[in-house]
Formats: sequence, structure tokens, C-alpha cells
Amino acid sequence: MADTRSAAWDTYAQTKPQRRATNAKGETTWFNWTQHPDHGPGAMLLDLREGQSALDLGCGSGGNLAHLATLGMRAVGVDLSPRQIAKAVERWPDVDMDIHQGEAVEFLEKWPTHFDAIYSVFGAAYFTDPDLMLPAVHARLKPGGVFAMSQNPAVEGCYGCQASYIPRGADEDPAIVKRWDYPADTWATMLKQHGFEEVTVTILPAPEAGKKKIGTLLIRGRRGHDWPRN
Ligand SMILES: C[S@@+](CC[C@H](N)C(=O)[O-])C[C@H]1O[C@@H](n2cnc3c(N)ncnc32)[C@H](O)[C@@H]1O
Repeated sequence: MADTRSAAWDTYAQTKPQRRATNAKGETTWFNWTQHPDHGPGAMLLDLREGQSALDLGCGSGGNLAHLATLGMRAVGVDLSPRQIAKAVERWPDVDMDIHQGEAVEFLEKWPTHFDAIYSVFGAAYFTDPDLMLPAVHARLKPGGVFAMSQNPAVEGCYGCQASYIPRGADEDPAIVKRWDYPADTWATMLKQHGFEEVTVTILPAPEAGKKKIGTLLIRGRRGHDWPRN
């Protein structure tokens, strides 16, 4: 199953261009939660201090992770796609980050230490059943650690497991991966049911300028200060 998914995401890697050399502010690394360039909150959402650890679930070509590494965080990423990881290595050769090829829930279950923050930007947390992902994330966070994820908002009435199509070429069927969509209040309930506190789920509107009008669903919660529970 993971092999089929990793082949699908390898296809995606081939079509997606590398991140720009600099953003609108001229920065060489930056954090972007949304599908729109230079838009939305930055890494502060993770509430991290220098030297703390962060795990990116479905880190792709590593742009957000590279930013955390340059801020002095211990930056760990996991991604199913060898091609995405090759792009991360090519794009950030001198940045000290630790990227692993693998499936996110399996990684969370096996990794030996806990993280100060775990996040996923249109990443593995979008493309994994939340009843598997949320308990695995909660168990791998330090007390008080933040989990945040972003994805497209659900289309009204299209809830639960949905199909995403990744184009392969004019003469080929697309690759298909599964994603999970819910209304914001359902996400909030699910996070609380899985033990997260201080839960917020918001839809960040798209930038006013430009033709793209779909906003970004931003989900955030914190592990309680109990220790150890899992
Ligand atoms: C749309 S891309 C986003 C990549 C990156 N987070 C970004 O913002 O550019 C989704 C990424 O999630 C990875 N992915 C999807 N499901 C995964 C899973 N179950 N475990 C690990 N990685 C996964 C894919 O390989 C892909 O690189």
C-alpha cells in the first residue's frame, strides 16, 4: 500500500517545480502554511524556541523544514516519496536537517524520542485517516507540544475519505491518493477526542488580490502538560 502511495507522490514530485530561490521579502528560507505564496502566519504558530525539535509529516522538498533548521531548531522530516526527498537534498545541501523516507504513522510509532512540535503542510496528515494519525501524533509530542496542520477546506457535503487525482500525462490515468476532509467543527471535535487541548480550527481566506479564492484550513492543538501518558 505504502509503495503505491510513494509511486503516486513520486509522480507529483516530477511535476512540482522547486521552491523559489527567495520570497517576496528576499528571504532565502521561509515558512508557508498555505497554497498561496508569501501568505499566512509563519513558524511562530509552532511556538518553538531555538534548540527545540520539530517533525514535519510529509515534508516534501523540505522548504518549511529548512526554515526551522536555519532558525536553530532540530529539524526532522519524513516523506513517502524518494523523489521528494532527493529534491530536498538538492535544494538544501548545506542545511542541517534529518529527513527520512517512510510512512508518517509508522515513523511516529517507531521514532525513539518526543518532539516539541509536529506539523504537516498539505502533507501526510491530510492524506492519512485522522483516527490513525492523531493518536500517533499525540503520543509522539512532548507535554505542551504543538501540533498544526494545513490543507484545503472541505467542499460542502464532501466529507470523510475523498480521492485526490495526481495528473500523470495526457495518455495516462492519473495517480490516485486518499485524503480526509471534514468541516472545521468536526476537526475540532476529533482533536479534542484524541486528547488535544487549546484546539483552534480556522479557515484562512485567500489573498484578496489574485484569482485564486480557495482559503486554507488551519488546524492547531496542544498536547496537555501531563507526562508520561503514552
Ligand atoms: C502536497 S505534498 C506537500 C509537501 C510539503 N509539505 C510542502 O508543503 O511542500 C504532500 C507530501 O506528503 C507526502 N505524504 C503523503 N502521504 C504520506 C504519508 N502517509 N507518509 C509520509 N509522507 C506522505 C507526499 O510524499 C508529499 O511529499
